[in-house]
Amino acid sequence: MKRFYSLSVLITFLSLYSFSQMIDNDNLVITHGPYLQNLDASGVTIIWTTNKPAVPGISLTYPDGLKRFIRNSHDGIIDGGGLLHKVRVEGLEAGTTYQYSINSIQILKYQAYKIYYGDTIDMKPLSFTTLNPKAEKTNFTVVNDVHEYSGKLASYIRNGNPAAQEFFIYNGDMVNYVQSPEQLFTGFIDTTVAYFARTRAFFYARGNHEARGYAGREFKNYFDFRDNRFYYSFDHGPVHFVVLDCGEDKPDDNRYYYGLADYDSYRLEQLEWLKKEVKSDAFRKAKYRIVIVHMPILNEGSRGHGMKFLADNFGPVLKTAKINLMLSGHTHRNSFHARGEAGQEYPVLVNSNNSFVEIYVDKEKIRAVVRDVNGGNIAEYEFR
Ligand SMILES: [Fe+2]
Repeated sequence: MKRFYSLSVLITFLSLYSFSQMIDNDNLVITHGPYLQNLDASGVTIIWTTNKPAVPGISLTYPDGLKRFIRNSHDGIIDGGGLLHKVRVEGLEAGTTYQYSINSIQILKYQAYKIYYGDTIDMKPLSFTTLNPKAEKTNFTVVNDVHEYSGKLASYIRNGNPAAQEFFIYNGDMVNYVQSPEQLFTGFIDTTVAYFARTRAFFYARGNHEARGYAGREFKNYFDFRDNRFYYSFDHGPVHFVVLDCGEDKPDDNRYYYGLADYDSYRLEQLEWLKKEVKSDAFRKAKYRIVIVHMPILNEGSRGHGMKFLADNFGPVLKTAKINLMLSGHTHRNSFHARGEAGQEYPVLVNSNNSFVEIYVDKEKIRAVVRDVNGGNIAEYEFR
């Protein structure tokens, strides 16, 4: 009898155990984000991740109260089914604030003739403001060489008055390498979301470290770049911004790239784009032109292959392009090279791995303030 009792307890336990294995009682939750990307005068891309496959959507509220629900589609199929969600919102007015809330509907079953939906997440409304090329002034913060020290990034943002910044620029080497996409979240995205990225965008210039590691190949999926390129331009206020992709620092045949680097030809392809870019109306007619590039383009100092390649090939194009300021990092040291001093006809401000830069632009001048991790003033420059 005792044996029979033990057996029935075991059977009950096993059936309950297998039943609990069959039932998925976890709620659909947002695991990272949302964060704003590729903001311009008429649109924005909103990115987030969920713990289960879902169909993403955005509820948008216009300043006059009008509402619109947005889902993207590709080749006739509504985007969805994965854990990483990216929704592009287009057709907006410049310099206008919109409310948005993210919506995700869980997919429980996805067959040819049967789709079951599960939980729905409707997040509380947030807001963003589109860029405005007609604005009279702007201010933003530049951060680089964080190398996954998210605590340091938090100090920069906290001590730099994030609420007053219109946007942020991440100027490369935000991670050491990308072996798993999770590194991007723990390294800097989660901190960025906690402080500002739900309501203000960050623009990204790839450094030489982002391409390293297996998941460096998936890097682009987690962000949104104009024209899907790491080199691009955008306009806000009196500034035309040119963002360049410096590539790796060592020669393509360096043993640590194991024959998988092709940066010289990629940089030359980018150079052809830059030659057209400096002739564009947006570039030529802008009041100020600011170049964002992780490796400084200088004709002097100790330079590895990547920096020398940029100086030799991109230097001559930028030299005559009336650049007002170049913002760089990479060297892990603060330095400033006045116009003409570094063999280039533009000033170069190099920010270290222990400081950030606040930039204020108005009709009279560009003002750059370099601050340490605690917000203390390291240096200040004005360009008129
Ligand atoms: Fe670097």
